[in-house]
Amino acid sequence: MANTIKTLLLIISSFYFFIQLSSAATYNVITYGAKPDGKTDSTRPFLKAWTLACSSSTPSTINVPKGRFLLNPTTFRGPCKNKITFRLNGTLVAPLDYRALGSSGYWILFIKVNDVSFFGGNIDAKGASYWACRDSGKDCPPGARSLTFNWANNIYLSGLTSLNSRQSHITINSCNNVLVKNVKIMAPDQSPNTDGIHVQSSTDVTITGTTIQTGDDCISIGDGTKNLFMTHIKCGPGHGVSIGSLGKEFDEQGVQNVTLMNAVFTKSDNGVRIKTWARPGNGFVKHVVFQNIVMNNVKNPIIIDQNYCPDNEGCPGQSAGVKISDVTYKNIGGTSATSEAITFDCSSTNPCDDIRLEDIKLTYKNKASTSTCNNVGGSSVGILMPQSCL
Ligand SMILES: *[C@@H]1O[C@H](CO)[C@@H](O)[C@H](O)[C@H]1NC(C)=O
Ligand SMILES: *[C@@H]1O[C@H](CO)[C@@H](O)[C@H](O)[C@H]1NC(C)=O
Repeated sequence: MANTIKTLLLIISSFYFFIQLSSAATYNVITYGAKPDGKTDSTRPFLKAWTLACSSSTPSTINVPKGRFLLNPTTFRGPCKNKITFRLNGTLVAPLDYRALGSSGYWILFIKVNDVSFFGGNIDAKGASYWACRDSGKDCPPGARSLTFNWANNIYLSGLTSLNSRQSHITINSCNNVLVKNVKIMAPDQSPNTDGIHVQSSTDVTITGTTIQTGDDCISIGDGTKNLFMTHIKCGPGHGVSIGSLGKEFDEQGVQNVTLMNAVFTKSDNGVRIKTWARPGNGFVKHVVFQNIVMNNVKNPIIIDQNYCPDNEGCPGQSAGVKISDVTYKNIGGTSATSEAITFDCSSTNPCDDIRLEDIKLTYKNKASTSTCNNVGGSSVGILMPQSCL
């Protein structure tokens, strides 16, 4: 008799275990009260789904169906017990009011999460009223980044479209192992500080198949970035791909092992840029490759600017401490929108070393463009138009 009861209990408990395994793993935000009407605040339902997914003992999925979901500033905090997958069919929208994202600086923030994947979806930060505030010279809040990962590992972001951010669209800060794939980013070319993707203090980040049209840098790379690989990037309008600004502070981590391959820049202010403040410091940039790049009517296709000193404040008469070395430009062609297609303006106290040009063909109005070199050492091989100043 006792044995029969034991067996029965075992069957019942396995049954419940099975139910948990098969059903506990999916959380649809609608179940927790999210409304796809673009008006009802869905912040709490999203956080409820996150809390459940984050404490799930099995890998879980958070489903966001079609429709528009209004989100106020939201922090998704880890670490979580298991892998989480976001399936976004709908659009996350920010409140229209430019003050609504407050002063935290973030709209959608992931902190200390590991193993999170995102598929599809749109995020729309509705930046227009915030940019208008800034343009009017009023006292405006600091503005929020749209999607941020801080101290996160193993992040996979695929198929997302980000519109009209108030500051950067996507920020990857102090992360390891991040793959950004087939992402689209759009904001008007005059929108202030709407960087596409900003990478900082992070290792092993890959950005592939990404189209960025924005009012600031398409991709900006801050100090402490190591092993960044970017390929199949379309940029423009925007300010191009920029390592920097670096060297604002004296003590900075360097930037190393950065590759950009297979990129097209169209009507952007810069193509590939390295930019540092004209201030003393111990930062560096090394092991950088820019290869297989097409420039379409780009103002500064290739530029190193170590004399950045906005408004001549805090740096006049000083030279940059950031050391730039081992940078290769290979197979870069197309058109420059100004006569000077290559500008190497390096530090007088810390000249650029080991800068290499190989097979460059940049024209200006169907003629050869020009190049200028200040304080730079290196070599050039292959076809060189403009003529190398190295
Ligand atoms: C999202 O869209 C896919 C493809 O259309 C569909 O299979 C899936 O069920 C949708 N998910 C939700 C939560 O609506
Ligand atoms: C440089 O970065 C690439 C990824 O872009 C990586 O595969 C490679 O191992 C890194 N090299 C070193 C020396 O760390």
